[in-house]
Amino acid sequence: MADFSKAIALILMVVLVANLALMADADDDKEIRVRTHKGKKECIQGWECSWWSRYCCNQTISDVLAVYQFENLFSKRNSPIAHAVGFWDYRSFILAAAMYEPLGFGTTGGKLMQMKEVAAFLAHVGAKTSCGDGVITGGPLAWGLCFNKEMSPMQDYCDDFYKYMYPCAPGASYYGRGALPIYWNYNYGAAGDGIKVDLLHHPEYLEQNATIAFQAAIWRWMTPIKKYQPSAHDIFVGNWKPTKNDTLAKRGPTFGTTMNVLYGEYTCGQGDINPMNTIISHYLYYLDLLGIEREQAGPNEELSCAEQEAFNPASSPKTATSS
Ligand SMILES: *[C@@H]1O[C@H](CO)[C@@H](O)[C@H](O)[C@H]1NC(C)=O
Ligand SMILES: *[C@@H]1O[C@H](CO)[C@@H](O)[C@H](O)[C@H]1NC(C)=O
Ligand SMILES: *[C@@H]1O[C@H](CO)[C@@H](O)[C@H](O)[C@H]1NC(C)=O
Repeated sequence: MADFSKAIALILMVVLVANLALMADADDDKEIRVRTHKGKKECIQGWECSWWSRYCCNQTISDVLAVYQFENLFSKRNSPIAHAVGFWDYRSFILAAAMYEPLGFGTTGGKLMQMKEVAAFLAHVGAKTSCGDGVITGGPLAWGLCFNKEMSPMQDYCDDFYKYMYPCAPGASYYGRGALPIYWNYNYGAAGDGIKVDLLHHPEYLEQNATIAFQAAIWRWMTPIKKYQPSAHDIFVGNWKPTKNDTLAKRGPTFGTTMNVLYGEYTCGQGDINPMNTIISHYLYYLDLLGIEREQAGPNEELSCAEQEAFNPASSPKTATSS
């Protein structure tokens, strides 16, 4: 009997110590350091928001998107018929996001806007990596992150036009890879410069390392495709003020316009086409799963880009990153 209660006491102690360790870990992560710099409040928040920034004073992405929520959004990605089983995970997403949280990714504007931006970004990702067309179980929207690469590339996507800036590496093939799939040597080159990983010589990193794959996708979301254009992030969180031309082209600070800046006329200005609708559906589905009311997504005109003029028409050379 005495031994028994000793054992219980021991177990209790182990549990207690383990809990304390966990709590200490969480505290370390969430420790917020605050300073005032040139009259503005700036913070650092553990490894997830790790340099002085006003955005780091807000909650971080792991505060507004928990593991179980990520699992819900991408519930079929590890099913036996998925094409990147075991590849994508929450941890890689948060690690990748940490590079951009001090710049405002998922940390702008308060909890609702933060959740909406994460949902919007992941909706692009989910739609572009889905294998949900025609599957029976779970519905077509449950299959985001099913792919991490193009399955049967018909070519190497090497374009000589960029041979001085981004020459194709011998033997490398620049078929679609990643979370917002990247195609062509010049897009691999630019994304690689952006995240400081040599993707031009190692395009395979995008299908071998989920953190790098998410980093490249968040870089695309955070970075204007052309200098005078807004990033998808700036459009979505309202940092961007449309010009008169934009207003005439029906481009406002909306979810619809994020599709326009990323995919141009492959998706926008073509009426109610499937490539556009599937991205919108993913966004609404993710908002539902995150418990955000549909009204918070705005009216259909703001979700859609059916009537917008494209930022980057395909007739202008080499701008759209993916189809
Ligand atoms: C941080 O969140 C608050 C609301 O909680 C918001 O008003 C503020 O704009 C956010 N800070 C930044 C830098 O976006
Ligand atoms: C994946 O990439 C990240 C970021 O470059 C790196 O820190 C990590 O070590 C890589 N993981 C593996 C398994 O190579
Ligand atoms: C606005 O659109 C007109 C006509 O397409 C174009 O010539 C002009 O350069 C545009 N202005 C800006 C600031 O983009």
